[in-house]
Amino acid sequence: MKKQIILLPGDGIGREIINSAKVVLNAIANRYNHEFTFHQHAIGGNAIDEYGVPLPEDTINACNNADAILLGAVGGPKWDSVDPSIRPEKGLLGIRKELGLFANLRPVKGFKALLHASPLKQEIIEGSDILIIRELTGGLYFGQPSERRENGTAVVDTLSYTREEMERIVEKAFESARIRKKHLTSVDKANVLESSRMWREVVEEKAKEFPDVTVEHLLVDAAAMKLITNPTQFDVIVTENLFGDILSDEASVLTGSLGMLPSASVRSDGVGLYEPVHGSAPDIAGKGIANPLGMILSAALMLRHSFGLDEEASEMEKAVNKCLEQGYHTGDLNIQGGKKVGTEEMTKVVLENLTAKSISR
Ligand code: NAD
Ligand code: IPM
Ligand code: MN
Repeated sequence: MKKQIILLPGDGIGREIINSAKVVLNAIANRYNHEFTFHQHAIGGNAIDEYGVPLPEDTINACNNADAILLGAVGGPKWDSVDPSIRPEKGLLGIRKELGLFANLRPVKGFKALLHASPLKQEIIEGSDILIIRELTGGLYFGQPSERRENGTAVVDTLSYTREEMERIVEKAFESARIRKKHLTSVDKANVLESSRMWREVVEEKAKEFPDVTVEHLLVDAAAMKLITNPTQFDVIVTENLFGDILSDEASVLTGSLGMLPSASVRSDGVGLYEPVHGSAPDIAGKGIANPLGMILSAALMLRHSFGLDEEASEMEKAVNKCLEQGYHTGDLNIQGGKKVGTEEMTKVVLENLTAKSISR
């Protein structure tokens, strides 16, 4: 299989971990006789430095012509005081919107070897396996332009959705639940927000087309609590943009670290952008200690969702699992003992486990 992959390293640790995904993909390509070609483009703060904007035309064009996109992370203190209209994060929001990537899939499934790395009790997280489906191109992130009013003493951000935007993400969630444990939890704030009341209507309506899927509605505040007190009650969670952003960082605690979580941002035809859930981690950037596993697992999601390469994706995931079972971990995981390594060494161990498997076949 021949595929063109665009790499958008971005900023901070994004630049350090993108290479981990690339070398692991190259190893997979060698082993299964695929041809992956990679082209790198600018996004975020580094694009501001080079082109004056966080999402250059050239990057948009390259992404439009690619088979899939891998993104590291954007942002950092260096650009915190730039004009809000050209912040690094605008580049990320821009490419999601430009490509119509309305569904952000964030699987949260802990590796057995990391059960004890979570601050939560092992018996609480054991057996949890959640897919958070976050609406990605609507809501507060994309309302009417935010405004300061009354001489800067008042401010407005708008939360807006069309029914159609709700319908397509809710449908995606039902379809996902159907091929998992057939349980969907829709998270909203219907006791306060009109948008949430419409969201509930859409979910109830769609539910009629999926009688095999059980549906539960939860208010977001209670959902946040239940996610860490009774995570095994969840299968698929569907929610709007901002709630999904917050709940997924919270859910990462189940896995031991935010650095472990991958994500896929997709549209209906399978085109996708794959990125870890975490950000550019300015506090550890440049130290070579970032956890590359969320990035590597995002590349595995790319193989599965955009290229239909299930076996290859599983091999990557198994190689990651093996490293963790061998005791390798980066410093973000709270593990006593074991083998604490940096980004490059962790990547090397993943590669070794991939290769070792191919020899033993
Ligand atoms: P962050 O996710 O970058 O970091 C939160 C904490 O988790 C930090 O302590 C960091 O060191 C740690 N962490 C995150 N990923 C890690 C990894 N792979 N390995 C080890 N430790 C890891 O969130 P933040 O500090 O709030 O945001 C920093 C910048 O990143 C901001 O500019 C924000 O807008 C941006 N951001 C970008 C994305 C993205 O590009 N997808 C996502 C989230 C935040
Ligand atoms: C994420 C990030 C982004 C978001 C930021 C950087 C705009 O937090 O991908 O989770 O809020 O979507
Ligand atoms: Mn986030």
